Amino acid sequence: MRDESVSVTDATQASTRDFAAWEPGRAETIATALAHLPGACLPILHELQDEFGYIHQDAIPIVAEALNLSRAEVVGVVSFYHDFRQAPPGEHVVRICRGEACQSMGGEALVEHLETSLATKLGDTTSDGAISLSAAYCLGNCALSPAMMVDDRLHGRVTPERATGLLATIA
Ligand code: FES
Repeated sequence: MRDESVSVTDATQASTRDFAAWEPGRAETIATALAHLPGACLPILHELQDEFGYIHQDAIPIVAEALNLSRAEVVGVVSFYHDFRQAPPGEHVVRICRGEACQSMGGEALVEHLETSLATKLGDTTSDGAISLSAAYCLGNCALSPAMMVDDRLHGRVTPERATGLLATIA
């Protein structure tokens, strides 16, 4: 039987508590250090999100200045890519794949189940700040769809019932 649960980092079931508090000086250091990269906007934004857990609104002018872009251009990139959060995440982040393969294998029912059971919507965080629910557009696990990530752990063939069980592990 194939393993349907894979940790994609060394951490197991890591919560999102490890993010640094927003610090403009640190953001400037990150932006400056990566500004030389081709297409630097995306790597900088990813690094900022890895560092702080989301893209703080004050990061926009910092990135714009480092890359000689307008603020609107940076906002456009942040808004276009679903991976970027514009508010601090909950203690745990649950990402549901809405890619084609997962949609065809019950992904939509999974979304509805999680939105109902958590009383929140995709892109939002539960009222107690415990869980952020977000969409992904292919988690690279199409053969085991529908797929879902709970923090750093990837799960395949996730039924609504199984999703409930997975959430119980972080409750
Ligand atoms: S479409 Fe969902 S993992 Fe690829």
